[in-house]
This record gives sequence, C-alpha cells and structure tokens, in this order.
Amino acid sequence: MKEQLRIGVLTSGGDAPGMNAVIRAVVRTAVHHGMRVYGIKTGYEGLFKGDIDELTADDVSGIIHHGGTILRTARCTEMHTEEGQARAAEVCKVLRLDAMIVIGGDGSFKGAVSLAKHGVNVIGIPATIDLDMDCSEYTIGFDTAVNTVADAIVRIRDTSTSHERCSVVEVMGRNAGYLALWCGLTGGAEEVLIPENPIDVKTVTEQILKNRAKGKRHNLVVVAEGIGDSVNLSKEIERVLGIEARGTILGHLQRGGTPTAVDRMHATVMGHMAVEAIKNGTVNKVVVYKDGKHELMDINEALNAKREYDQKMYDLIKIMAI
Ligand code: F6P
Repeated sequence: MKEQLRIGVLTSGGDAPGMNAVIRAVVRTAVHHGMRVYGIKTGYEGLFKGDIDELTADDVSGIIHHGGTILRTARCTEMHTEEGQARAAEVCKVLRLDAMIVIGGDGSFKGAVSLAKHGVNVIGIPATIDLDMDCSEYTIGFDTAVNTVADAIVRIRDTSTSHERCSVVEVMGRNAGYLALWCGLTGGAEEVLIPENPIDVKTVTEQILKNRAKGKRHNLVVVAEGIGDSVNLSKEIERVLGIEARGTILGHLQRGGTPTAVDRMHATVMGHMAVEAIKNGTVNKVVVYKDGKHELMDINEALNAKREYDQKMYDLIKIMAI
C-alpha cells in the first residue's frame, strides 16, 4: 500500500489576516485526501529548532475568523545563508516531507525557492497586507487591512472635521503604495503620497489650499510608509498654510483583526488548491490570483514577475478630490 503523503506547512514574514484560514484549508483538504500535515512553528526558525507538530482537522477548528497565525511567524535571517538553506532542506528530508507549503510574502518565497533548489517540493501561497507581490493580483490579508484603515479614517475624519484640521494618515505597505492608494480612494483623500509616484510638499499644500478655497473644512492626506515622515509633513502643512494639521501613523493595528470574508475566501481556495496540486504531483508552484481566477505559476517565474505601476487609481483619487 502507498504510504500516506506528508505535507509541511509554515507561515513566514509579517503575519496577515487570513493566514489561519489558509492553514485550516490546507489541513482539512489534506485530511480529506488521507494525507498527514505537519505544522512548523515560527516560520523557517521552527525547522531549525524542530518545533513541529502534526495538525489534525480538530486542531484547525474555530480559527477561520481569527487574525494572526496559530503557527506563529518570524523573519529568519538564517535562511538568507547558503548554509541555513541547506540545513532547512535537510530537516525537511529527515521529516520525510513530500512537500512544504509556505504562506507569506516575497521574502518567504525566496526561502521556498532555496528549499526547491535543494530538492524539497514546495508550494507558495501569497499572504501579505502590502499586496506587493508582482506575481499575484491578490495577496491574503490586503482586504482586511484596507477595511481596518477605512474604519480608522472614518474616526480620524470625525475629529478632524470638528476642528477643521488637515489629517495626514500614514499606512503600511513597505516599499509599495497599493495599500495607500486603496485607502486613499476609499477614504476620500485629497492627496496620496506613494513611492511609485512621489510628489513634493508644495504640491500637497497647493492642493489643500485649493480645497480650502472651495470651502472644504477638512482635508485628508494618505502617506505610504515607503514615503514616511508623515508627522513632519503635517508640521510643514501647518507652517506653510497656517492651518492645524495632525499626523497619525496607524502602524501594526493594520495587521490584526478578524479577516474579512474576501480574505477567508481567497485563503480557503488557495490553501485547498495547494494541497490538490501536491496530490497531483504538481510542485514548485505558487498559487496566484490572475484575471479573476486562481491558478498555479512556476515559483521562479513568480519571483521574477514584474507588474507595471498603474497611474489610473492615483488619477481617480485626484478626480474624486475635486
Ligand atoms: O509586510 C507587512 C508589513 O506590515 C509591512 O507593511 C511593514 O513594512 C512591515 O511588515 C513591518 O514589519 P515588522 O512587523 O517586522 O516591523
């Protein structure tokens, strides 16, 4: 009789809401096919420490709606070295893993590619609130983060409007402006500062001045963390325009909370697809979302994918700010 397939699963890099829903989908699909699943704790670090537990269908009960990751996560510097990569692959072989599912962002996928180079079968699932993975039009956690920021902006707008102030809200996104663009558009921002399309302070103050002249008593500027310096920007707005401004850095509250239904849906489909691929002997792939469909892409191709910056969303924000 053929031995049961053995799958490893880990979450790595920054956590993202919906990671638990992926773990659940992986475990439940694997159990459905009679496979065994091993949860590696704290990302690649757990491989080095041997911090690994078998996961049953019951272990993933009641987690679909929880943010964070039950497997915990870490940014593992050892995986940046040739020696560390070889050692991690060795542990996978000792565990007799038929495949490893890596849930995370670009950095996590680099680790997965190195495992593949050492003969470990891998599947990647894109999960980051930054949406900064060029291989996929969706990354798990993004929708929840956008909704969290939208909610925060509503609250900031209340106080800001009462005081007739300008709000400068800084959002995460690492070096990418996707989160800022979505939050700017859905929050009704007058201006959005992103690394892909940097603008100077003069442009920002001129825009605020125009809006004030039209009778707008509240102004919202969204700043991506890749631009940063939002508190200084608000001080500069006060100095140049003589109006009150306040900077708010939303920080890590954007990474937590109950995943939205959209995130749970992507997470469940992607987790399920990863296990189906392994069952069919299709490995060294990433589950991506493209043109409205989930599909498998070669992991090297995925890491080298390039998405052009699309100016349209920024232009739309400007039209909406009239
Ligand atoms: O990648 C997700 C993210 O939240 C980025 O937006 C941010 O730059 C980074 O992680 C923060 O990382 P850490 O939690 O390690 O400070």
